[in-house]
Amino acid sequence: MSSIKTIMKHPLIAPSLLSADFSHFAEAVAAIDASGAEWVHLDVMDGHFVPNLTFGPKLAADLRPQSRGVFDVHLMVYEPENLARAFAQTGADYITFHAEALVHSHRLLMVIRKLGKKGGISVVPSTPVSGIAELLPFVDLVLVMTVDPGFGGQALIPSCLEKIKTLVQIREQRQYEFLISVDGGVNESTASLVREAGADVLVTGSAFFNAQDKAALVRRLKGLET
Ligand code: DX5
Ligand code: ZN
Repeated sequence: MSSIKTIMKHPLIAPSLLSADFSHFAEAVAAIDASGAEWVHLDVMDGHFVPNLTFGPKLAADLRPQSRGVFDVHLMVYEPENLARAFAQTGADYITFHAEALVHSHRLLMVIRKLGKKGGISVVPSTPVSGIAELLPFVDLVLVMTVDPGFGGQALIPSCLEKIKTLVQIREQRQYEFLISVDGGVNESTASLVREAGADVLVTGSAFFNAQDKAALVRRLKGLET
């Protein structure tokens, strides 16, 4: 039964470069590869949609040859169309943008897929699953924000976990195929709650880059050891 599969699975881990030392990105992706984490999460911020600025497509292009990981781009920007196209040229694998950032989300999802990339939609804590229901047949990934986006190191908002359970139910009922990724405040204390809710991908920023033993942290986040 798929419900049993959901309980038994171990999620993919996506460390976020937002919490890396910005003067040592190459070392950061090497540490991610060495840890056993499968994905690299790139948080792109424009200083408008969120009150912070990070980096653009050149960083992804420069890091691409240095990493085996799946590049998981999270666009926290208004007017994400241009950046989505630019990141598609960099070797990004998943390109996720915010439902709150533009009106014509379906059109951009189609553009991303046409560029040969996986398209994701994200929701901030105040946006319900119903706000993206019409997009779910067309997405490869849903990124559930469990903090207000903009900064690493914030505490997970527990009520957001209900959205993961709702998405799991909808996916089962309608035979959709998107992955459910969870972003914000995921650490050793909260990971079991996120796994039990049914997440497929755990984004981890501060917990990962603060950990002395990153491989052990990854195993614990996956639920492979306590
Ligand atoms: C927040 C970013 C997250 C952040 C997660 O706006 O989208 O990816 O880096 O960091 P932690 O795990 O520290 O909450
Ligand atoms: Zn993110």
